[in-house]
Amino acid sequence: MDPHLPLVPRPLRVAPRDGRLQLEAAVTVHVPTAHDVVSAALALLDEALSRTSGSPLVLTDDPAARLRLHLVAEDALEGPDGYILEIDPTQLTLAAASAAGFLHGVQTIRQLLPAVGASPQVPVTLPCLRIDDAPRFGWRGLHVDVARHLFPVPALERLIDTMALFKLNRLHWHLTDDQGWRLELPSLPRLTEVGAWRSESPRRGARTEGDGEPYGGFYTQAEVRALVAYARARGIEVVPEIDVPGHVQAVLAAYPEMGHGPAPDVWTRWGISTRVLNTSDETLRFLDQVFGDVADLFPASFVHVGGDEVPTEEWQASEAAQARVEEAGLESIDRLPGWFLRHVAQGLARKGRRSLAWDEALEQDPPPETAIMVWRDAAFAHQAARRGHDVVCCPMSCCYFDHYQAAPETEPEAIGGLTTWRDVLAYEPIGEDWSTHEQARVLGVQGNLWSEYIHDAAHLEYMAWPRAGALAEVAWSPRGARDADAFASRWRGVAARLDALGVAHRRIDE
Ligand code: ACM
Repeated sequence: MDPHLPLVPRPLRVAPRDGRLQLEAAVTVHVPTAHDVVSAALALLDEALSRTSGSPLVLTDDPAARLRLHLVAEDALEGPDGYILEIDPTQLTLAAASAAGFLHGVQTIRQLLPAVGASPQVPVTLPCLRIDDAPRFGWRGLHVDVARHLFPVPALERLIDTMALFKLNRLHWHLTDDQGWRLELPSLPRLTEVGAWRSESPRRGARTEGDGEPYGGFYTQAEVRALVAYARARGIEVVPEIDVPGHVQAVLAAYPEMGHGPAPDVWTRWGISTRVLNTSDETLRFLDQVFGDVADLFPASFVHVGGDEVPTEEWQASEAAQARVEEAGLESIDRLPGWFLRHVAQGLARKGRRSLAWDEALEQDPPPETAIMVWRDAAFAHQAARRGHDVVCCPMSCCYFDHYQAAPETEPEAIGGLTTWRDVLAYEPIGEDWSTHEQARVLGVQGNLWSEYIHDAAHLEYMAWPRAGALAEVAWSPRGARDADAFASRWRGVAARLDALGVAHRRIDE
């Protein structure tokens, strides 16, 4: 494809044509298609054109309108949620078979529009071409940790807008951890009354010391509903994570009866707390309440149940935990995380939802329908797929966007590690030796933004882009189509758009 077209992710096929289509101040659009399939796409197109040309779309019955959006059968497309975009000197035609397909086409149009608004002297034009496009993977995710630091709703909306621009479609929302519980649940008010607030945080630049500054906050039910709807209108599903049975020190600060020993504080240090849920019936009822409420609040097909980094010291020292191991017929205390996972997964299944868990679950006899999120080592993906689990791949080696993205001495403080955009772009989740069945288990890939060292929204964006753009290319574009120099060339055009939108990002050339 033309390396100068600033398209990320790279479309499947681009055929340039001669000429340009000029858009008038009032752009006419003809939509001979059921309105509910195109309404979200039309709203976004309207917003994009209003931004560039300063005037809204004008719907017309005239098939010769400047823009035309029409429904086609899926088999006319390159794949599910694909689209065909044709631009000639008189008309732009966008064809798709689904709401997601239309949204994808509109994001491509957005990337083809000038980055900055037109002036009376410079009319808005689009290059003539034909694009046939469809995603490689259905799960193209970005994870955001709001437990260590939280980001205001407008910042999350901006992140969603930018994700949508790159056709990313899953926001994995890490809502709970040792350092804070961020989701208002009216049935369990102390989770946010107590669990959302910590007395201080590690000091910047001196990790073992406290900063003496109280910190906290949470998202109300109304904010969550609005954000889920905002994301959905942009083709993005919000996948909530409630991390259990470890990473629960904030829960135990609020409801110490779910733990062992006296109430801890909401943790003021980073790391892995040794505090875990106890194995009582009351704790199981607590989990039923939490995950039931979460399933009612979030329409996503998956709910992430955590399951990472579960220390067993407290259970080893607990007679009740030993008794539970025997009663449940478990091999040892080490199998308790699986006992929690199966309980929560069954509850979610009754609500028509699937569970998703970090890859430690592979050692815990997970239910077959539990999807595995691979983070410790990319090799776990093959193991999970071989065992018949669906897999989302976000290995620490190339998908942890809290790592440094260039030499640490040149960058703001980060957790450690080094993951450049080139490392991300080079990532291939599927091995050469995988069977077709195993390959089909890969739902997709994801980048993870853990927020211990990400304090504000601008820094969140800086850590996300361009790495999440490279990840979008891994997630969307065909295997083998990746070329770092060509990506960099396209990204420079994208960067101008991010600048115009006021979205922070790291310069690809620095
Ligand atoms: C993780 O990074 N603890 C999933």
